[in-house]
Amino acid sequence: MNQDRAPIRVALLGCGTVGTEVLRLLHDQPDEFAARTGAPMLVTGVAVRRPHKHPEVPEHLLTTDAQALVEGDVDVVVELIGGIEPARSLLLTALRSGKSVVTANKALLAEHGSELYAAADASGADIYFEAAVAGAIPLLRPLRESLAGDRINRVMGIVNGTTNFILSAMDSTGAGYAETLDEAGRLGYAEADPTADVDGFDAAAKAAILASLAFHTRVTASDVHREGISAVTPGDIAAARTLDRTVKLLAICERVVDEDGTESVSARVHPAMIPRSHPLAGVGDAFNAVFVEAEAAGQLMFYGQGAGGAPTASAVLGDLVAVARNLVVAGKGPRESAHAQLPVRPMGKTPTRYHISLDVADKAGVLSQVAAMFNEHDVSISVVRQQGRGEEASLVVVTHTAPDAALRSTVDKIAQLPVVREVVSVMRVEGEPS
Ligand code: NDP
Ligand code: HSE
Repeated sequence: MNQDRAPIRVALLGCGTVGTEVLRLLHDQPDEFAARTGAPMLVTGVAVRRPHKHPEVPEHLLTTDAQALVEGDVDVVVELIGGIEPARSLLLTALRSGKSVVTANKALLAEHGSELYAAADASGADIYFEAAVAGAIPLLRPLRESLAGDRINRVMGIVNGTTNFILSAMDSTGAGYAETLDEAGRLGYAEADPTADVDGFDAAAKAAILASLAFHTRVTASDVHREGISAVTPGDIAAARTLDRTVKLLAICERVVDEDGTESVSARVHPAMIPRSHPLAGVGDAFNAVFVEAEAAGQLMFYGQGAGGAPTASAVLGDLVAVARNLVVAGKGPRESAHAQLPVRPMGKTPTRYHISLDVADKAGVLSQVAAMFNEHDVSISVVRQQGRGEEASLVVVTHTAPDAALRSTVDKIAQLPVVREVVSVMRVEGEPS
């Protein structure tokens, strides 16, 4: 241990699922941290709401006054409270006074990232946030640093563990969404209020962070097209299965280049069918995985635990060591890189592919009526499969790539055809050549 260097003073805001593990790991290996950073690490206080609920924290460290803790004698503020306020104000206070920040708060970064980066830039403080996307998986640092010399074209991944658990269970058991959500709650995956996960808010915040880093462009949560999984039916899962596909909630961030060379960024979160042979198809339970396509590096896959106290604490502590090292050598970490400032493409103009499964009347002319709707909207068909069942037939159409709005309108028109008895399943298709 470097006994000469003054300790790095750390304020911990929040001591819940993640904060508890951060504190435990820091406490368990003080010499290791000192050796890795070049200075001892000293926790100066732990801010919580209900101190009596925290027998694991030495009493002299506990406080309910997070603001005073941030304003006191500290070098680094680790924010593990979550949500927008008071986290935003606390971090702005820290950064404006030159104190570096480590946070796992994706909701805050996706809404107010630019304000926080600007405050860090102005004072020269660092802001690190590896744990905000995909928990333990080293992903943001590879995007921010290792791939900084490459050109990233696509980032596609499973970034929400709760929804992946639910969709994986629906796929393996054939059970419905509501039943599987209950099971996820019983097993401790889904929270008491699962809205942020199942409606895609959590994944959309992560997609905004990923798109911002990958494309050097400011993308906020409101720029991300968002659909959750509550409308996914056993019929969708069965339809996917018949074509050797499975359904995943994907965050997809891509660079779209028009014919005239104009570039834009598309960021979206929605359920999609992917081939069972795709690397993301095998990602089960509550695991996360992210697939990155870069021009020189080619395809890269990042896989691991995207949530949980200890896994997330690993990413937080990696950031804390990086910040501490910077403080020891009076260096600085990477700053925000938003120089490209590409326009964000609306979902309606984003190229996608659809899988449409219909129950139709089994009589002459049905296929041509359905095909006419695709033709009317300039949507090209890739696969058609029809199977007669007496009076009715099941018809499956997979399209080539077309603007999402054209595909949506085609489905709306098809649903109104008298020969169409039921639209069984409509889902976007990803992970295969268009
Ligand atoms: P928890 O809800 O478990 O813990 C939140 C902590 O913040 C609690 O200790 C709570 O105090 C404290 N707190 C809340 N409000 C205040 C306040 N006003 N002042 C001081 N302390 C306050 O959250 P998690 O540990 O699960 O999550 C923390 C962050 O990490 C979030 O941003 C989350 O999105 C992110 N994250 C979490 C993951 C996970 O698996 N849990 C994975 C990846 C990221 P008290 O205990 O007294 O109520
Ligand atoms: N609720 C999130 C999930 C936690 O299920 O993935 C990690 O951000």
